[in-house]
Amino acid sequence: MTEKENLKNQKSMAPRPVKDSQSEMAEIVLPNDANPLGALLGGRLMHWIDLAGAMAAHRHSRNYVVTASIDHLDFWVPVKVGDLVILRSSVNRVFHTSMEVGVQVVVENYLSESCKNVSSAYLTFVAVDREGHHLPVPPVIPETEDQKRRYEDAGRRREIRRAELQRRRGNLAKST
Ligand SMILES: CC(C)(COP(=O)(O)OP(=O)(O)OC[C@H]1O[C@@H](n2cnc3c(N)ncnc32)[C@H](O)[C@@H]1OP(=O)(O)O)[C@@H](O)C(=O)NCCC(=O)NCCS
Repeated sequence: MTEKENLKNQKSMAPRPVKDSQSEMAEIVLPNDANPLGALLGGRLMHWIDLAGAMAAHRHSRNYVVTASIDHLDFWVPVKVGDLVILRSSVNRVFHTSMEVGVQVVVENYLSESCKNVSSAYLTFVAVDREGHHLPVPPVIPETEDQKRRYEDAGRRREIRRAELQRRRGNLAKST
């Protein structure tokens, strides 16, 4: 590695505040996004959640990323054709090559000027190069009380995820 490449690498591994990854995406629900009752399809919302999560992961890691997992998802209220869906995302915590991103989804009804929570999700992204090799991700710095709480909670969620993954990999190995 040349000195210039080395310097660039060191700089790109410098810790970054959560605010650098904060992203927002907005979508108006169109008939093609909905079921026959005019309600937003769950699968379409999952796609938007994945995209919103990836935005934060790209911004933080400044690299390509792949989705490794999406935790449990609840859909709290139906979203209708014509509603404005807002998705907000940011990196909660970085581990080594992976990072947890939180996505919050709200629906804004511009006629009634009301806003409701629709869903929230935790996604894990892994940073990769063009060949798919995993890459280390720079640490994230939580600054606000909420960011610090999410950072701590993300550590607990990782332990649960790892235990579950190990159990599933064990089951898969037994069945093949
Ligand atoms: C996700 C993926 C990169 C993991 O690669 P792997 O070689 O099996 O994983 P490893 O065991 O070496 O773990 C690499 C990192 O990913 C994390 N990881 C792996 N599987 C995970 C899962 N299911 N959930 C959360 N994190 C996971 C590990 O904890 C590790 O994190 P760390 O480096 O921060 O400690 C690989 O399985 C993959 O490429 N999957 C397909 C991704 C894809 O195509 N996504 C789009 C959806 S179709």
